[in-house]
Amino acid sequence: MLTIRKFDPIDMFSVIKLASETLTEKYSPSLFNFFYESYPKGFIVAEIAHKIVGFIIGIKTTKDCSRILMLGVSKSNRRQKIGTLLLNEFLKIIINEKVKYIELEVRTDNKKAKDFYTKHGFKIKGRIKEFYQDGKSAYTMIKEL
Ligand SMILES: CC(C)(COP(=O)(O)OP(=O)(O)OC[C@H]1O[C@@H](n2cnc3c(N)ncnc32)[C@H](O)[C@@H]1OP(=O)(O)O)[C@@H](O)C(=O)NCCC(=O)NCCS
Repeated sequence: MLTIRKFDPIDMFSVIKLASETLTEKYSPSLFNFFYESYPKGFIVAEIAHKIVGFIIGIKTTKDCSRILMLGVSKSNRRQKIGTLLLNEFLKIIINEKVKYIELEVRTDNKKAKDFYTKHGFKIKGRIKEFYQDGKSAYTMIKEL
């Protein structure tokens, strides 16, 4: 059975492992702790049979604006709407806090994620050159709430 729930610090190892398997960018483990402490409500996981299969980390940058920092679903569990459930749970939280818009960056060559976010009403706002560690560019995407 799939459960979408708040992140618990005991999930930290599993989330860091999943992030390293699903995301191209490499993040220092301490960053996960930093994001969790910055906005604990925005750290949400998907679990099946006690295994973490997806996670989202979002923060509030201003009173009106939120930002998705990471979203990952394990390869074997994709196209099962787990990403959608994680995103919707985060949206519910920030809509409740009267946030007006949500932003994120996505690699220009990450078609899957771009299609995912487009399907969820995000629009490309701009492009940032050399945004990633490997020198690749990002699209900035935005959704008004
Ligand atoms: C992007 C990601 C989170 C999507 O998660 P998911 O659980 O597979 O997505 P969902 O099942 O909720 O997909 C919802 C919709 O998004 C779109 N979508 C998702 N994956 C897609 C893909 N590979 N190709 C095209 N469209 C896709 C589809 O419209 C899909 O609806 P459908 O299955 O009814 O056609 C997942 O592919 C992933 O973890 N990718 C690697 C990490 C990453 O790129 N993260 C985002 C950048 S931070």
